[in-house]
Amino acid sequence: MNTVPPTDCSAWSKLAAHAQRWHTVHLAELLEAEPDRAHDFRVEAAGLSLDYSRQRLGTPTLELLAQLAAERGFEDWRAALLEGRPVNLTENRAAWHTALRAGEAAPAEVRQTLEKMEALAAGLGAIRRIVHLGIGGSDLGPRLVCDALGGDSGVETRFVASPDPRALARALEGAEPEETLFVVVSKTFTTVETLANAEAAKRWGGRHFYAVTNNVAAARAFGAAEVLPMPEWVGGRFSLWSAAGFTAFAALGARCFAELLEGAREMDRHFASAPVLQNLPVLMALIGVWNVNFLGVRAHAVLPYAHALKLLPAHLQQLEMESNGKRVDHRGVEVGYDTAPVLFGAEGPPSQHSFHQLLHQGTPLVAVDFVDPGLDPLLSAHARAQADALARGSGASAAELAPYRRCPGNRPSSVLRMPGVSPFALGALLAAWEHKVFTQGVIWNIDSFDQWGVELGKQLADRLLKGEHGWTRKPSTSRSASS
Ligand code: F6P
Repeated sequence: MNTVPPTDCSAWSKLAAHAQRWHTVHLAELLEAEPDRAHDFRVEAAGLSLDYSRQRLGTPTLELLAQLAAERGFEDWRAALLEGRPVNLTENRAAWHTALRAGEAAPAEVRQTLEKMEALAAGLGAIRRIVHLGIGGSDLGPRLVCDALGGDSGVETRFVASPDPRALARALEGAEPEETLFVVVSKTFTTVETLANAEAAKRWGGRHFYAVTNNVAAARAFGAAEVLPMPEWVGGRFSLWSAAGFTAFAALGARCFAELLEGAREMDRHFASAPVLQNLPVLMALIGVWNVNFLGVRAHAVLPYAHALKLLPAHLQQLEMESNGKRVDHRGVEVGYDTAPVLFGAEGPPSQHSFHQLLHQGTPLVAVDFVDPGLDPLLSAHARAQADALARGSGASAAELAPYRRCPGNRPSSVLRMPGVSPFALGALLAAWEHKVFTQGVIWNIDSFDQWGVELGKQLADRLLKGEHGWTRKPSTSRSASS
């Protein structure tokens, strides 16, 4: 597969030259001069619509970005991803999360796991609360899905990622061991935080344990009554579609989970077949590359205008930064260009009264994605107003304003609209983001599916715990998780 660095592609130097012109163009003027931008710079897929008219780019920019994708061999990489060939080169593994939502075309092992999930969910009997124990990718996706789509199925859910005993204690308030199911999700079943919580749950008196893992032997040794498989070819941060989503499956119902998968599948179909410049996730990726590598963007804010999506930024933070926070390319050479920007975000309206000040007047250039499910006119009006303020700034009246009141504008943003927060729309949204991340990894020539950078800290903590520095962890034996 093509591992030529992007900086060796002819489109890269053309983009660098092309960017010079954009340093003197202001979005306010552009939006005045091109009244059709909102129509022209828009793409739709699986019910989602991306309005990127407030990005600092034009058709020639997009054509050069498409050329860059072609020079990087994007179509071959995409085919390898979708066919389940190794795209994680440092670990020689596939990243075949699309197979988890392929419906009837899914591998037999995927369909069998879904059947088992259905049988286990149907047999929960007296269970009133599911306590999901996992961290990182084994937590954030299922937590987001439950929070966004949570209904009243009679089964409460709690998620515990932190090994701070107070987190588990809080999740167990009011719970009875007989009515509580612990779902321990860990691909490796070696993650100390998750195993510490699972042991603490046993000490509390937990009686019902299911595990979701790729390490079946360790889960059986732990004493899990049921073990659901997590294939080796699914990465943690791409695993919510697998049995790692069992808590969501059980709490929200099989139908809801199926619709989530359907939405993702629809986005997969679009990603697989739409031409590059009409491909929603690919455009998101290329716009990000343009902003980071040619316009000097250093951070990216994701702002959902829906309370139901308040956990979206946390999930995307792992998805983007653990995938593309890399400094060495596929050839093992240090990259000479920026890769993933810092991603942060929060539910839009409260964040307007918190960090938007920096977005509007701060010195770093931050790109923004507004996610608007159109739930309420007030919410949509605020999302739109923020996008306009970032793009246009104080405008013609700026001269009359005191300098400290002026907003310079010319700050790029997109508005991603979705038809409500349905399981289908959420599935499409999350799949789109996964494909965006993959596409950026292809352009930057980095491995989006490993995470070697997190290993060093783990090893050092292990050494500390083993007493090299004179301190040994003493597990609590109390029935209370907080002690
Ligand atoms: O440390 C990072 C990481 O490996 C993530 O990639 C993963 O999602 C998380 O830890 C949890 O890992 P596991 O599912 O093996 O417990």
